[in-house]
This record gives sequence, C-alpha cells and structure tokens, in this order.
Amino acid sequence: MRMYDLIKKKRDGGVLSREEIYAFINGYVAGEIPDYQASALCMAIYFQGMTPEETTDLTLAVRDSGEMLDCSDIQGIRVDKHSTGGVGDKTSLVVAPIVASCGIKVAKMSGRGLGHTGGTIDKLESIHGFRTDLSPDEFRAVVNSVGLSIVGQSRNLAPADKLLYALRDVTATVDSIPLIASSIMGKKLCADDDCIVLDVKTGSGSFMKNKEDSIQLAEIMVEIGKRAGKQMMALVTDMDKPLGSAIGNALEVKEAIETLQGGGPSDFRELCLVLAANMMYLAKKGSLDECRVLAEEALVSGRAFQVFANMVKAQGGDVELVYHPEQMIQAAYIHTVYSPHTGYISRVNAEQYGLCALSLGAGRNTMEDKIDHSAGIYLLKKTGDFIKQGDALAILYCNRESALESAEKTLIHATEWNDDAPVSHPLIYKQIL
Ligand code: URA
Repeated sequence: MRMYDLIKKKRDGGVLSREEIYAFINGYVAGEIPDYQASALCMAIYFQGMTPEETTDLTLAVRDSGEMLDCSDIQGIRVDKHSTGGVGDKTSLVVAPIVASCGIKVAKMSGRGLGHTGGTIDKLESIHGFRTDLSPDEFRAVVNSVGLSIVGQSRNLAPADKLLYALRDVTATVDSIPLIASSIMGKKLCADDDCIVLDVKTGSGSFMKNKEDSIQLAEIMVEIGKRAGKQMMALVTDMDKPLGSAIGNALEVKEAIETLQGGGPSDFRELCLVLAANMMYLAKKGSLDECRVLAEEALVSGRAFQVFANMVKAQGGDVELVYHPEQMIQAAYIHTVYSPHTGYISRVNAEQYGLCALSLGAGRNTMEDKIDHSAGIYLLKKTGDFIKQGDALAILYCNRESALESAEKTLIHATEWNDDAPVSHPLIYKQIL
C-alpha cells in the first residue's frame, strides 16, 4: 500500500478502506510516513471530507495507536463528559462531582488548555499540591473510594492524535469535521466508559463558529460512539460569550467552588445541571426530570461539594483551599477596566476574551509554555447587560504589569455596545441522541 495512492484516492474524492486508514495511522506513528505525506492526506480530507464509516475507522485507528486505560476493577457504570472547548468552561469541576455524588463513577481523563481555550488539568493544578499524574493503580483506587478522579492524559494514550494534532495545527487543517471528530473520539474511546455526554460548543469562543457545523460535528461524534458500542448523547451549547464570569485557572476554580456551594453565575450553574442530568439519564438513573432533581439536590445539599473536596484530598491537593478559596494564589496586579461607552453590551468576541486571558499569562501558545495560575479576567458585565460609561466592566489579574495595557485594549475591542438590548441566545441549541 503506497501512501501516494491513498493521498491521490482521497484527493479525487474516493473512499478509503479500513485497511488503508489503519496503514496510514500505524505507518505515521511508526515514523515510516513523512510529515509531508501525512499533511497532504489531511488537506485532501479537509477538502473532500469523509464518510461516517471512514471517520469511524479513523477514530478507531487513533484509539488503537496506543494504550487503553484499564478500568476493569472499577465497579459500576462509568460515565464521562467531554467539551469541545471554550472560554470560561469549567463545567467538569462541577458536573463530575454532582454525578459522582449521585452514585455514578466518573473516571475522567482531561486535557490542558491550548490557544484561547482553557483545560481542566491546568485549572485543577492551581490547587496547591493537586496531582494530575496519578499512576493507573492510584487513579482506580481514587475512583473506587471517592467516586471521582480527574487526571491528565497518559503519554501513551492515542499517540497518533498527538502527532496529527501538532501537524494539523501548522498546516491549516484543524477545522475539519472528520479530523476533529476522530481526534476527540479517538481519545475518549481509550477510557472505555459506558456512557459519554458531549458538550459541543458553538459560537465565537469555540472551534466551530457556526451552528450547522457544530450540529454536524455533534452528529458524527454520536454516531462514532454508538458504532463503538457506547451510550451517547451530545448537546450543542452556546459559546458566543464566555461561560460564567471567571476566565483563568485559579479564578475558575474559585467560581466552580462557589457553584458547588450553591451559588455561582446562573448560566454556568444551569449548564452544569443540564449536563449532569443528561449524564445520569444516560446511565439510567431515572427520567431526565428525575435526574435534574437529583442534580439540584446534589448541589443544594453540599454532597457534590463534599465529593470535590474528597477528590482534592485524595489527589494530594491542599483541601483547606476548597473550604477557603479566598486563600488561593493571588496575582500581583489587579486592574479594573472601565466601560468607554453607555449602552447594552450587544456582542462580545469570546475567542478574543480567551486570547486576552492568555496574554495575561492564563494560557499557553505551545504545549511547552508555562502558565500563570493566578492570571485571568473576571467579567463584571456580560452580553445583554446595560452599562454606563465609566462603570467597571471587568477586572484583569496578572503578574506582569507590562501585559495590562494591551490586554485592556483587546478586551475593549472585543466588546460591542448598542442602544438596544440584544436578542438573547439560548444556552442549549440542540440535543442529539
Ligand atoms: N480538540 C481535540 O481534541 N481535537 C481537535 O481536533 C479539536 C479540539
């Protein structure tokens, strides 16, 4: 099988067989296929697309390129959720404890932030001492005792995706639906959970900017999961504005703890409840309405908060910070941004908000960059709110004073004002079963 023939077949609109797809992935991971041929094939896929069968085969080849997570000694049904990535998206920190506190095991492998989007592992590491690198034995022991563990992805998990993602990043082939679907689901299927709820983001702060593409991505990922024997559901949710008020690692952990204690911003709390209810519904805990009630009770009773605290303790984190989040790491510079106009905030560019937080130190441009856990933005006003000129719009947190001026400019440029209140967007656009 010559790589040249595979590239030509896809370039001319042909359908690749399972053998051809596995030969490509295995050959690329083995170092037998050069980057220039792999990138040519990615570009051909970008323009020609893939059938659902091809996308499924590509996903399974990515999954099979490395180790699987062995969860055989974790008792009971296991549920996972995955977000395609957004700004201020800290839902895993609340949803996973809710579900675990209702008796369903959550053995979660999460990623780090890249570009304008944040990652759960970076957020958790802003809790002093918290270990995200548990051995497989430690991980399983925490899941069995606490009901929940969140760790980073092991080095040997889906190595094909690591290579392909880096290649796509520099060859303008990230935003291809079959390539994104196989990348996300290839990694998810390594954990071998029983049920998976996907939170597919749509809007200015997500990878998919328009609803049609997001729905298509959600549909194909649900289909791939079902073909692999999983209980699947996807929700297409709004990412045209940041979720909640906090953007940046320690700030987001504080907001998550506030929500676990029964407070928190209403949009964030609502999405957490919907995701948790759908995870429990998929795990056959009851009807969707019953699961919603269970999720609300888990927050109100403090049960979910307790599971979060137990997980932090079990993974070596300073649990005092969970009870006293005001003692979490603080930035040296705290700068208020004032509104230059009077009016309703009619639209924001959420991606630019994410990049603004990144420029303050909250994110990284390459996987090697070090992040500043205390850096970020706290939004005092969001899309739909009325604000007067000179009133406080947001607070910037960072340890490099020199970063403040351009971050303030980015934030203001990414915000639009209007005399009329904007039409509000739904939080959830579509459910795909
Ligand atoms: N997240 C992933 O894991 N892969 C992609 O291709 C895009 C987002």
